[in-house]
Amino acid sequence: MRSVICHFSGAGNSKTVAHDLSTIIGSDAVLPIGALRADPSPLEGVETLGLVFPVYFFGPPGAIKRFILETLRESQARPSYLFVVLTHGGMPLYAPSITDRLLAESGFAASYVQTLSMVDTYIPLFAIPGENQLAARHERISKRVQEIGEEIARQEMKVATRLPMARLIHSLWDGSLDARASRDRKFRVTADCTGCGICAKTCPVGNITMEKNRPQYHQACEQCLGCYHHCPEHAIRLQKRPLRGYSWYVPPKSFITKERVHESS
Ligand SMILES: Cc1cc2nc3c(=O)[nH]c(=O)nc-3n(C[C@H](O)[C@H](O)[C@H](O)COP(=O)(O)O)c2cc1C
Ligand code: SF4
Ligand code: SF4
Repeated sequence: MRSVICHFSGAGNSKTVAHDLSTIIGSDAVLPIGALRADPSPLEGVETLGLVFPVYFFGPPGAIKRFILETLRESQARPSYLFVVLTHGGMPLYAPSITDRLLAESGFAASYVQTLSMVDTYIPLFAIPGENQLAARHERISKRVQEIGEEIARQEMKVATRLPMARLIHSLWDGSLDARASRDRKFRVTADCTGCGICAKTCPVGNITMEKNRPQYHQACEQCLGCYHHCPEHAIRLQKRPLRGYSWYVPPKSFITKERVHESS
């Protein structure tokens, strides 16, 4: 049975979860949605399809909207089991309902939808916790990923109930997406930049090019903060200092421990 997991990720939480789920369920491929938009052929004939992405501003990223309404709708994918995992910082709110509506608009229905609480990467409001707190948080995430992975492996049916007023919130969210694109103007690149190009490689929507060894932003931003968190020099700053000061976060390569995978296999 062919299975593919698609992900969208800024700082890397959702990408790590996608890879961990793949290890647990043994999927055939884990692909960023950017690659699938360029070449949707891996979606053909897929029987189990997974979507893993973050909650940004109480909804899915705009790139997920485009992926569902364009790439998925036009693809040959007719999965018999479609699962969705939304990573978030504690307030997923309408994101599952909006995703449900987007999927329905494209003729799909999810069999399994779960939200997964992670380290919140929205540093304009929140600080990344210290090492001890992070270790405890990673332990909790690891257990939850394992649970979700095992439920998906058993092809359990578990869908989120659509919240009341989903239609109204959906249209408010939809109307906010365009304004997000040019908010990359709030980034400032300091003299600490070495021109390594990691920010450009990290950007999940190709919104950064390197010109004369400096990143240039092109106003097609998702506000994912991937460039900010991944810069090894911490050279990307915000116009307005974050409420709780600057802090950075890149998730570990995997949340699940070898023992856990071993226990479940
Ligand atoms: C721009 C932005 C907006 C966010 N908005 C929300 C939100 O509305 N609700 C929430 O629970 N978490 C929110 N978060 C936290 C992320 O959903 C969470 O950290 C997620 O795991 C990030 O995944 P990623 O590393 O794959 O991008 C936000 C994070 C960012 C960067
Ligand atoms: S990742 Fe940081 S140091 Fe590297 S090019 Fe981007 S801003 Fe400069
Ligand atoms: S430019 Fe925007 S979309 Fe690209 S990594 Fe930075 S915050 Fe994310």
